[in-house]
Amino acid sequence: MAIQLFMPTFDVEGCLKEIRECLEKGWTGLGWKTVELENEWKNYTKLPHCAHYVNSATAGLNLAIDCLKDYYGWDADSEVISTPLTFISTNHAILLSDLKVVFADVNDTACLDPKSVEDHITDKTKAVCFVGIGGNTGDYEEIEKICKKYDLKLILDAAHLAGTRLNGEIVGGGCRRNRVFFSSCQKSAYS
Ligand SMILES: Cc1ncc(COP(=O)(O)O)c(C=O)c1O
Repeated sequence: MAIQLFMPTFDVEGCLKEIRECLEKGWTGLGWKTVELENEWKNYTKLPHCAHYVNSATAGLNLAIDCLKDYYGWDADSEVISTPLTFISTNHAILLSDLKVVFADVNDTACLDPKSVEDHITDKTKAVCFVGIGGNTGDYEEIEKICKKYDLKLILDAAHLAGTRLNGEIVGGGCRRNRVFFSSCQKSAYS
């Protein structure tokens, strides 16, 4: 028996119109359409530093983690607390940056359980990677508080969070306040 958990919705005609324009002009690489999309996204999310597109959420995550690692000089023993649920991309991006993945548990939201995160913090912990699974924000605010309390960086894997709001704001909007770093979120839902 198959149980459908999430249902993606797409503006098919709107997307095809934009793609058609590129194909008709014969310009399928980085260019004016990329800039247009980046600016639209920046306006839509109100996130001032978000307008830099990469080709996938994996690349965005890897960029975020590598930037943090370089900037703060984390060594290969440094630990990032993460979820065991979306293993492939989220945790491979951490491993690709030569950091250690430490699994905390999820709770009934299918997102990281704040209590389990706190239980896994050691003196090697540098960051927490939070996945908003299926567009769900889970206990994101609690995780933010824990990161502040222990001075940890918060990496938001927002692959499923395009358009998701928390208290009326696009998730991750606290980036100026709380120094949240997050990955590209180019998917409207998880299928
Ligand atoms: C939670 C999560 N993070 C990252 C990714 C990677 O996305 P992409 O295929 O765009 O690299 C996925 C893929 O579905 C995902 O589910």
